[in-house]
Amino acid sequence: MEPRRSTAIRRRALLAGFTLCAVLVAKPSSAIDIYADPEVMVQNGTTEILRCTFKSNQVVSSATSVTWSFQSSQPDNQFFKAPYVIFYFSNGMGFPGQDEFKERVRFIGDINKRDVSLQLSPAQFSDNGTFFCDVKNPPDVTGTPARTELRVVLRESGSKMMLIVGGVCAALALLVLIAVSACVVMRLRHKRHEYEGAR
Ligand SMILES: *[C@@H]1O[C@H](CO)[C@@H](O)[C@H](O)[C@H]1NC(C)=O
Ligand SMILES: *[C@@H]1O[C@H](CO)[C@@H](O)[C@H](O)[C@H]1NC(C)=O
Repeated sequence: MEPRRSTAIRRRALLAGFTLCAVLVAKPSSAIDIYADPEVMVQNGTTEILRCTFKSNQVVSSATSVTWSFQSSQPDNQFFKAPYVIFYFSNGMGFPGQDEFKERVRFIGDINKRDVSLQLSPAQFSDNGTFFCDVKNPPDVTGTPARTELRVVLRESGSKMMLIVGGVCAALALLVLIAVSACVVMRLRHKRHEYEGAR
């Protein structure tokens, strides 16, 4: 009876071990994870940095590639129908895509730090749309491109200036108020001392 029981236990333990092994081995090799800011607002004529980073268990090599694409949100735009490649990075070199972006995009990431950010300067209204950041880090090639919705808004230098001037004026007024009240308090104290001295 006893030996039989221990055999059953041993068999069960073995089975559990096998199951664990099978689960660990069969676990799909981790895919590449790509991250970008979901939504970014930029004023026309200014510099925008499209941030993008990735995570991968594989080492970064010269085979690692980055593809930045753009799809416009305006139906009358030439890049409306599908995402168009605007920048490609591979083998340590960057290659601009569409002419529209050629002079305005610059790779500012550091592939070894898994940063593949792109600078767009100056941003213009036609850049309103979605930017896709895709990274392949062979053999890690299965990942979903990260996307950033870029909203290009009117640069309102006038109202911003007013806001700054208003803020500075308010701060100055507050300082004057504090100084005046300090003077009043000191004078009151002084007067009281005079009375006390006269008594
Ligand atoms: C932003 O767009 C407005 C309207 O088209 C234009 O007047 C202004 O000059 C632009 N600003 C820059 C910095 O390009
Ligand atoms: C940018 O796109 C958004 C929605 O996709 C739209 O509401 C906005 O008017 C667009 N801006 C310009 C300047 O085209």
